[in-house]
Amino acid sequence: MIPLIDIVRQHQTLKGEMERAVGAVLNQGQFILGPNCQSLEQEIADYCGTRYGIGVNSGTDALFLALHALGVREGDEVITSPYTFFATIEAIVHTGARPVLVDIDPHHYNLDPEQVEQAITARTKAILPVHLFGYPADMKSLSSIARRYGLHLVEDACQAIGAEIGGKPVGSWGDVGCFSFYPTKNLGGVGDGGMITTSDPELCERLRRLRTHGTYRKYHHSCFGFNSRLDEIQAAILRVKLKHLPKWNLRRRALARRYREAFRGLPLQLPSESPRVTPTYHLYVVQTPHSVSLKQWLLDRGIGCEIYYPMPLHHQRAWNDRFPVPSLPRAEAVAGTTLALPIYPELSDAEQETIIKAVVRFFKEEKAR
Ligand SMILES: Cc1ncc(COP(=O)(O)O)c(C=O)c1O
Repeated sequence: MIPLIDIVRQHQTLKGEMERAVGAVLNQGQFILGPNCQSLEQEIADYCGTRYGIGVNSGTDALFLALHALGVREGDEVITSPYTFFATIEAIVHTGARPVLVDIDPHHYNLDPEQVEQAITARTKAILPVHLFGYPADMKSLSSIARRYGLHLVEDACQAIGAEIGGKPVGSWGDVGCFSFYPTKNLGGVGDGGMITTSDPELCERLRRLRTHGTYRKYHHSCFGFNSRLDEIQAAILRVKLKHLPKWNLRRRALARRYREAFRGLPLQLPSESPRVTPTYHLYVVQTPHSVSLKQWLLDRGIGCEIYYPMPLHHQRAWNDRFPVPSLPRAEAVAGTTLALPIYPELSDAEQETIIKAVVRFFKEEKAR
């Protein structure tokens, strides 16, 4: 069996380091917003090319708190993608604002800047691009649109820590970058966790207060905030893992290169590539009209895989109950036809060859049918 994602393998290689880090937290006794959280915030900020990091309890909260801190409220509109994890629009809805979904670029599955510009109205307050599967959105165009129309830019970088455009990391392009440390992410904790990055000192201060009940001094509250704090055990583990992240992301890229060579000539759309873009291959997603039968074929051979995402957000029941359903033909065509294959640093070359052979064989048999 080759699982789609295997976090236990990664933890086995780091067992000693992780146990020592957790042991130190247990001995020290400060479990919320302690020294590990503070150090991690600075280390992530440095890694992402920003001045500040604000540790929170999930990627979802990172998005929600970022929008809230930027003043997004009821009556506002936030433009985002219909092809992402549901949390992206939940964060918008919970501020009271309306998510405005616009169509994607069919090659890299991220927001199409032209569609974004056409969707701007007097109510638009922010643009929220998602760097889906670890491939950065077109931040140059989106930053220029945001500047021209005076809009906030909030990056959903939950799947893309370490990705860059022209050497500039994601999370440093917008007013804020939002990251998730959900266990299966490229940098994952052993529970929920998230981080907001920014270079704006005032915004950083607002976010630090908002995540902990609006507190500016013990038992002194300047606003009505939330409880969304990164705990010390997560921070200690994430600090251990962050040291390995650059090497892990390189390994993911090497695996992606091998897939690309091996799948050349097959009727598959492979992940987008550009010389200026450094993706992180959080997921290696191929596109084919045969995604359902290819998925079954691989599962029958003990190879884990999954359709990401089977349905665009505007076709979800939760959306239908609340908002009118737009027509977004590209997202509709892509959803359900994309299949994620195993890609993680611990995947061995031999396992990858097994996956490649199975995919190639599927298309040979498909042709013969
Ligand atoms: C694109 C995207 N946005 C937001 C989230 C939410 O992150 P979390 O699960 O940490 O709340 C995730 C991850 O699950 C995600 O993949």
